[in-house]
Amino acid sequence: MDRIRIVGGNKLNGVIPISGAKNAALPLMIASLLTDDTLTLENVPHLADVEQLIRILGNHGVDISVNGRRERQGESYARTIHFTCRNIVDTTAPYELVSKMRASFWVIGPLLAREGKARVSLPGGCAIGTRPVDLFIEGLQALSANIEIDGGYVNATAPEGGLVGARYTFPKVSVGATHVLMMAATLANGTTVLGNAAREPEVVDLANCLNAMGAKITGQGTPTITIEGVRSLSGARHRVLPDRIETGTYAMAVAMTGGDVILEDTNMALLDTALEAIRRAGAEITETNSGIRVVRNGAGIKPVDIVTDPFPGFPTDLQAQFMGLMTKANGTSHITETIFENRFMHVQELARLGAKISLSGQTAKIEGVSRLKGAPVMATDLRASVSLVIAGLAAEGETMVSRVYHLDRGFERLEEKLTRCGAHVERVSD
Ligand code: EPZ
Repeated sequence: MDRIRIVGGNKLNGVIPISGAKNAALPLMIASLLTDDTLTLENVPHLADVEQLIRILGNHGVDISVNGRRERQGESYARTIHFTCRNIVDTTAPYELVSKMRASFWVIGPLLAREGKARVSLPGGCAIGTRPVDLFIEGLQALSANIEIDGGYVNATAPEGGLVGARYTFPKVSVGATHVLMMAATLANGTTVLGNAAREPEVVDLANCLNAMGAKITGQGTPTITIEGVRSLSGARHRVLPDRIETGTYAMAVAMTGGDVILEDTNMALLDTALEAIRRAGAEITETNSGIRVVRNGAGIKPVDIVTDPFPGFPTDLQAQFMGLMTKANGTSHITETIFENRFMHVQELARLGAKISLSGQTAKIEGVSRLKGAPVMATDLRASVSLVIAGLAAEGETMVSRVYHLDRGFERLEEKLTRCGAHVERVSD
């Protein structure tokens, strides 16, 4: 199994190209189930989760062709992928596939909207929390779906004539449930109004792509999304938006090590709140023609308190990385996680590098230390694992991160991107 070996102490200087967003690519790929025409997605990142979803969509009858091409010599391998689902050949998403990646549960929306039925395995919990699917079920029921749960599967059927548009207000903001209800409602009879919808940029990206396919969606990016149902959707060509979590992660890495890096092909509007927190921690962040410049020269890292929240708040997917940064702050900071109940597994691993962190309920108190020391550590989930990389970059000596398959789910060519900026990071295959 691969491991990542980091020898800390180097500053980061150079250019890091930012990939297309994993969390936009996944729902966009799933949207291909809504049409018998071809959906072409550009800037699709090469990640384990994308490959897994390709297998899942193939199972439902989506024909997939990849035009790998080097967009810029040696820098980005973003791919253009064509998805064509002439016929849905199977409306069942089995446990073996859904349990590997939670987002595959989202196929329930398009399958139900296009075929009138879907049988999708419950995803189960995961390392960061229980992650129930009650909001998906309630929302689809509001669109007149009949839903039964049996033997670990959700069996959903639409009424004769298809789903029926309705008003539904989410009792809690959910990115996934917003994606699914929005996709399902595109082919429903009549108008659907979703209240308290997620406002994440990935939701806006999906809505924009669906509109390019002929859907009639307005209000994306606000808490109220209106979807006027249409008879059918066509194909489209759409470019996946930049990955704001990857952007924030590398910005925090530079804030941690010091240095001067341009994050290319991304933009500040995707992560204002997180960038503001990084600025307060002592980095200078400016917009450039090609992306974002992050600089920290001289000054130390200042302690900053943050609370995670749905967009536009501080993203939970950057919480672990920010904690990594705060381990070396000149003082004490507090990080409160409000989205997932168990997203602190990195605390014990950061402690192995010498971090001083104590937990009280959903809040972590981080007492900054002047030096971290490299150690063997274990990745526990995608974002937790990259927080160990950030800490390792500033630790003295060698940090060996095991279970890097977590990293490969969401960070494209991480070791290469960091090495090109002067870090000492390598993949070790046993
Ligand atoms: C998406 O997950 C992201 N995944 C997550 O990124 C991200 O952490 C999360 O949104 C929050 O921003 C993808 O986009 C593929 P939610 P999702 O539904 O949609 C609760 C990463 O590292 N909830 O917005 O599954 C839920 O338990 C991943 O890339 C219910 O209670 O998250 C959580 O507490 C990890 N009932 C909260 O809502 C439901 O039916 C928000 O979850 C659905 C969700």
